[in-house]
Amino acid sequence: MKVLIVGRGGREHALCWKVRQSPLVSEVFAAPGNAGMEDCAVRVPLAESEQEKLVEFAQREGIALTIIGPEAPLLEGLADRFREAGLKVFGPNRAAAEIEGSKAFAKELMKKYGIPTAEYAVFTDCGEALAYLQEKGAPIVVKADGLASGKGVVVAETLSEAEEAIRCMLLDHKFGEACAKIVLEESMEGEEISLMALVHGETVIPLEPAQDHKRAYDGDRGPNTGGMGAYSPVPQVKREIIEEAVETILKPCARALVQEGRPFTGVLYAGLMITEDGPKVVEFNARFGDPETQVVLPRMKSDLVEVILRLLDGETPEILWEEQGMLGVVAAAVGYPEKCETGAVLQGLTELSPDVHLFHAGTCRDEEGRFLTAGGRAFLLGAKGRTIPEARERVYRELDKVQCLGIFYRRDIGLRAYQTMQEASQGASL
Ligand code: AMP
Ligand code: GLY
Repeated sequence: MKVLIVGRGGREHALCWKVRQSPLVSEVFAAPGNAGMEDCAVRVPLAESEQEKLVEFAQREGIALTIIGPEAPLLEGLADRFREAGLKVFGPNRAAAEIEGSKAFAKELMKKYGIPTAEYAVFTDCGEALAYLQEKGAPIVVKADGLASGKGVVVAETLSEAEEAIRCMLLDHKFGEACAKIVLEESMEGEEISLMALVHGETVIPLEPAQDHKRAYDGDRGPNTGGMGAYSPVPQVKREIIEEAVETILKPCARALVQEGRPFTGVLYAGLMITEDGPKVVEFNARFGDPETQVVLPRMKSDLVEVILRLLDGETPEILWEEQGMLGVVAAAVGYPEKCETGAVLQGLTELSPDVHLFHAGTCRDEEGRFLTAGGRAFLLGAKGRTIPEARERVYRELDKVQCLGIFYRRDIGLRAYQTMQEASQGASL
C-alpha cells in the first residue's frame, strides 16, 4: 500500500522513516516534505494548506492511508476533506482538533468531565481579566486562546509581568484573533512530560512518555521554541504515574470528545505537569509532538502502519517497545526562534555513525548535494542507549562531528534524567 505523510518537519521525517519500514508499505509520499527525507519518501510539491490538490493526489495515486503531521491543516479541516472523499486518514476532524485549537474549549471540556488541570478563568474583557489577576495574584499563567506558534503562553512570575501580557493580548491584539480570548491559569509546579496516545473514538493506545525542552538555551533560559530536544522514556517519572495519567486524563478525554459529538481519531497529546497532587494537564495537542515523536517512534518495535490500520478497524492492538532509551538534540539555525540566518553548509553529516538517527527539518540541498540550513530548527540528531545518560553521551559525541557556524544547540538535553539517575545510583551504593 501507499502512504502519504502531510508536513515538512522532523516529526514528519521520523514518520516517513517509520512507515517506510512497514512490510505492508510499498511507497511513502511526503507533502511537501523536506530535502532530508528523500531517502525514505517521495516528495510531492503540495503545501499542507492545498486541501483540494492533496485529496486529488491521494485519489489519483490510490493512497491507502494518510497521516497528517501539523496542527494547522487539522484545524483547517484537512482530515474532514479526506474523510468526505472516502479516504482513510489518521488525524482528527476540525471539531475534535479544537482540543488544541482553543485553550478555552480544552479547559471547559476538562472542567465538565473532571479531568485534572490547573484552575482557570476565560476572559475577553481586559478590565475583568485584570480584576481576576488582582484577586489571584502572581505567579499566574496567561494564555492566548488560539494557535500562536508556541508563543502565546506567558508564565508570569510577577503581577506586572502578568498585566503586561494581558494588555498585549486583549488590548494590542499581539496574536490577532488567537488572543481575542485569553485564559488565566494557576501556575503549576512539577516535572513536565509529554504523553501521546493513538486514539480512535474511545479506544486509547498510549505511546511511551517523553520529555521536551522548550526553552532555546541551556538551563531552561531564553525564549520558548517548538522544542530543542527530547528523550524517552522519562526515568524520573514512575510507571504508575504514567498509568494514572492514561486512566485519569487520556481515556476520559477521548470519551468526553465522543460524548460531545466530536469523536477523535489520531494522536492525542497531553502535556502534563506531575504535581504533588498527581498528573495534571498543561495542554492538549491534536497531533504527534515535535520533537517528541522523533525519540518515541524509533523505540517502537511494532509496525506503526499495522497498528493504525487495526485501530481504525476497531481493534486495540498492543504496541511493543524497545527497552533502550533514546535522546535527541535539535540543532537550530542561529537566531532561532526569532529571525534566523540560513544558507550555512552542514559539514560532517556524512561522517555520523550509522546507528544514530538524523531527522531533517529546516534544511535544503545545494547543487552539489550538500545540506544547508534553511531556517528554524535544522535537524535532530538522536541516539539510543541502555540508559538516557548513555544515549546522551552518544548524541553529543556525534554532534561534535557536525561542523557549522550557522547552527546552535543546547548542551543540557536530558541532564535532568542524568542527575536523577546519578542520585539513584548514589542512593543504591550508600
Ligand atoms: P503550552 O504552549 O500550553 O505548552 O505552554 C508552554 C509552556 O508554558 C509549557 O510547556 C509549560 O512549561 C508552561 N506552562 C503552561 N501552563 C502552565 C501552568 N499552568 N503552570 C506552569 N507552567 C505552565
Ligand atoms: N513539543 C511540543 C509540541 O509538539 O507541541
